[in-house]
Amino acid sequence: MPTPATTDVLRTPYQKSISEYWDAERDPVNIRLGEVDGLFHHHYGIGEPDLSVLEGPAETREERIIAELHRLESAQAELLLDHLGDVGPEDRLLDAGCGRGGTSFMANRRFGCDVDGVSISQQQVDFANNQAAERDLSGKVRFHFRNMLDTGLPTGGLRGSWNNESTMYVDLFELFAEHSRMLKVGGRYVCVTGCYNDLTGGRSKAVIQIDERYTCNVHARSEYFKAMAANRLTPITVLDLTAATIPYWELRAQSSVASGVEDAFLTAYRENSFHYLLIAADRI
Ligand SMILES: C[S@@+](CC[C@H](N)C(=O)[O-])C[C@H]1O[C@@H](n2cnc3c(N)ncnc32)[C@H](O)[C@@H]1O
Repeated sequence: MPTPATTDVLRTPYQKSISEYWDAERDPVNIRLGEVDGLFHHHYGIGEPDLSVLEGPAETREERIIAELHRLESAQAELLLDHLGDVGPEDRLLDAGCGRGGTSFMANRRFGCDVDGVSISQQQVDFANNQAAERDLSGKVRFHFRNMLDTGLPTGGLRGSWNNESTMYVDLFELFAEHSRMLKVGGRYVCVTGCYNDLTGGRSKAVIQIDERYTCNVHARSEYFKAMAANRLTPITVLDLTAATIPYWELRAQSSVASGVEDAFLTAYRENSFHYLLIAADRI
């Protein structure tokens, strides 16, 4: 796809600020974990940690914790891919808000298919395209400096698409309209996201701290289902991953790569004002 003008991708001052944030981002929790096996994630982990990493020789403690956090983050991406349904090597997938491309590479490895990733950070797109070149995958896994609200991808061409922790930067009605346009009928959309609990009111103090930390806008749980229903996306699976992500945060809080946001996440999850959800939906 031809690269559009920056002003066509970053249409608002808000999008420009998000782009600048990710262009400048060098957070050790993302870089050091990615260096474990070359899959760079900007999302959180799920599953039971092996707490034996906290024991043993002090000199290698950090290395063990980092490898374990990375294993949990990759397990999260594997679970997302589990819900994409029946994808074959001839299919095409989209990673919307792809970061440095970790989930895209895992999808190609699992399904052998074409994957396009879009991000509003040119830095991330360049990083991920370099990784694709190093893996000899440039023809199969491609990253684009594009806005996920207007990707430029063809209509009805995708077997599957997802947002891995990137829905909180955009209006969900606009986002799902674009996914719905790109997906074939019968295609599958999956997101993993934090959302606030409508039952406990608006954004709690801890959720506001998360929004401030990332300059994002966590949506209400109900908003996802309203916006899907309005855009021909019909949920088939909803998983509450809150209990499965808390141990990741507890381990991360004890590591040298803790970024300071750990308390806000743990408080929000424990007080039930925030949920970590996977939603899979069919394009009808
Ligand atoms: C928390 S990171 C998640 C990255 C990736 N999905 C992962 O799991 O590693 C959020 C990503 O959303 C991207 N993003 C935010 N707003 C976007 C938009 N309007 N269009 C495309 N990407 C966007 C950011 O550039 C960043 O790559």
